Amino acid sequence: MLISSTLLINQNLRKTFSLHTDMNKAELIEKINQLKKEKNAVIMGHFYQNDDIQDISDYIGDSLALAQLAAKTDADIIVLCGVHFMGESAKILSPDKKVLIPDMEAGCSLAESCPEDKFAAFIAANPGHTVISYVNTTAEIKALTDVVVTSTNAKQIVESFPKDEKIIFGPDRNLGNYINSVTGRDMKLWDGACHVHEQFSVEKIIKLKKEHPEAEILAHPECKKTVLTLADHIGSTASILKYATASDKKEFIVATESGILHEMEAKNPDKVFIPAPPEDSTCACNECEYMRLNTLEKLYACLRDESPEIIVEESLRKKAESSIVKMLDISEKLGL
Ligand code: 13P
Ligand code: SF4
Repeated sequence: MLISSTLLINQNLRKTFSLHTDMNKAELIEKINQLKKEKNAVIMGHFYQNDDIQDISDYIGDSLALAQLAAKTDADIIVLCGVHFMGESAKILSPDKKVLIPDMEAGCSLAESCPEDKFAAFIAANPGHTVISYVNTTAEIKALTDVVVTSTNAKQIVESFPKDEKIIFGPDRNLGNYINSVTGRDMKLWDGACHVHEQFSVEKIIKLKKEHPEAEILAHPECKKTVLTLADHIGSTASILKYATASDKKEFIVATESGILHEMEAKNPDKVFIPAPPEDSTCACNECEYMRLNTLEKLYACLRDESPEIIVEESLRKKAESSIVKMLDISEKLGL
């Protein structure tokens, strides 16, 4: 993973990161719960985490919910079971808390597709534009941004600006194209993408739909336009979950990281969820390998050692903060 220059890795990381793999799952769970209580820690997990992590998390949610929770929690320690930018957002919003992540290597291909110097040059080449960035970015990109969005609130936040507002949107071209199409805007798009969401196969989804004609197709807006065109519902992980739970249909083809199926199945035991297949059927490409780096063993070691810790240098934190706070304020006003 490309670690941002201003991110300081806890010096103790290498020294203390010995895993207790001799413990069985039940023992690990017990130890984690014990440490959590002793240290007044809260475990927040994203829907793309493996089942064990989702099950032990105090909260699971999409990236907006995790940011909202991180801004409000009264815990002393936040263990962010997700990827690095999510931990960084939590630290930016709650600088007095210790923010831990089970594996510091849990990055994001989309965030990496937007280097700070190149994005700054893109902004400089388009003067007079408001900069809107997807939350899947480094703190450095957030510091260059006017307002952050997630896939839950991107449409509403873009629409909160006047119709003729000149806007730069980064880094996801698929989400940007989708928001342009549903809002009638012409935002200038950064050319980034997520390697997981670009992998879904249009042909295989069409074939699946023929085999399951009653199934609804649900897709995350990070998917390619050709996949979104097939979808009955397009939305964030939380939105996909909500839609499937409310629907009277019984089968769903789900085009996003397959970790979301765990909560979809838990909430809807009478429904069938089929993960949309990637182009390459020999890989588990609909799993985000960064998200899946976090394990129960690493979560235990991270709580025990209070490491790896996410640290954001204060002047950068302050510059990045206002774009995330603006997003939270607008979302609150909109009831999101
Ligand atoms: P959500 O905003 O739906 O949580 O998505 C985050 C993400 O990383 C999608 O790939
Ligand atoms: Fe990043 Fe894609 Fe993984 Fe989401 S699924 S965290 S966008 S690499």
